[in-house]
Amino acid sequence: MSATTTISVTGTAPYEILVGRGILSELAQLLPESARKVLVVHPPTLRERAEQLRPTLLDALGEGADVLLAEVPDAEAGKRVEVAAFCWQIMGQADFTRTDAVVGFGGGAVTDLAGFVAATWLRGVAVVQVPTTVLGMVDAAVGGKTGINTAEGKNLVGAFWAPRAVLCDLELLDTLSRNERVAGYAEVVKAGFIWAPEILDLIEADADEAVDPHSAAFRRTVELAIDMKARVVSEDFREAGLREILNYGHTLGHAIEHAERYQWRHGAAISIGMMYAAELSRLAGRLSDDAVRRHRDILTSLGLPLTYRPGAWSQLLATMQRDKKSRGGMLRFIVLDEIARPTVLQAPDESLMFAAYQEVAG
Ligand code: GLY
Repeated sequence: MSATTTISVTGTAPYEILVGRGILSELAQLLPESARKVLVVHPPTLRERAEQLRPTLLDALGEGADVLLAEVPDAEAGKRVEVAAFCWQIMGQADFTRTDAVVGFGGGAVTDLAGFVAATWLRGVAVVQVPTTVLGMVDAAVGGKTGINTAEGKNLVGAFWAPRAVLCDLELLDTLSRNERVAGYAEVVKAGFIWAPEILDLIEADADEAVDPHSAAFRRTVELAIDMKARVVSEDFREAGLREILNYGHTLGHAIEHAERYQWRHGAAISIGMMYAAELSRLAGRLSDDAVRRHRDILTSLGLPLTYRPGAWSQLLATMQRDKKSRGGMLRFIVLDEIARPTVLQAPDESLMFAAYQEVAG
């Protein structure tokens, strides 16, 4: 077993993110000493693994301890108020107190839900996040954005609630399909474009190796992406500024996810979104042809999609505009002046946005 890497988030609620292989047994040490009861929120596919956590947790919690399992639907189906209410019911019936703790054990949707349940129970109890997907490890479980969806839209209800710790056991990724892993890896690629070019160098050296969870390159790139997220949220927990750079590729990406009724993997949509943002940067006179080519080559080498339906532009634009309006702002894109130099492009001309779309329509 290789050593554990520790990445620190600083700020008003500091915490550590542990990364390694076969480190799930360290979970017990990350719980607050005061905890006597722990609620493990997990999807059906992780039932057995969640059961396996029980004895070590019980042991560590000591006398009078109880480990409760809340099995919730996976993906967006779990991010509903009824599912949160199901978790609250388990906690209420178990006399869960303010000093007890929640564990989010699953992909990004499960950790979003678990974080929300923890943020709202008795006005906030500790949550330790144990993400089991690439997307969860490098994005969703780090940074304290928690929430659920409503019929009107995604993530409309939620709270900023920093986890007490995040445990990323890379061994949990071994059973994921390659497609699932690569889709999650799109967020790692994003970190390369906006922050840590070393990620891009490692993918260019060997793309297959970069997405193999056993390789040193995979671990290094994932750690760099987590480190980026940790640095960004340390500086801007509540998304008042810097944190917005994490939306690179997401303005168009979210509109594509909406057009596809959320049947696409997030990473596939933001891959096209990043290609679009790169083209927009180039057409706005900011980014070089070479850097745009680098986007194309890297995303292609990973097998991520680069193009979307030619006739979809007006629908995508309407979705982006509606999204922005509901947030009380103008349409904003994160663009690049060069690799690792992100900036905001506000309310670009429709002709410019359309011209960039022509480059990804295919
Ligand atoms: N996923 C974007 C953020 O955490 O701000």
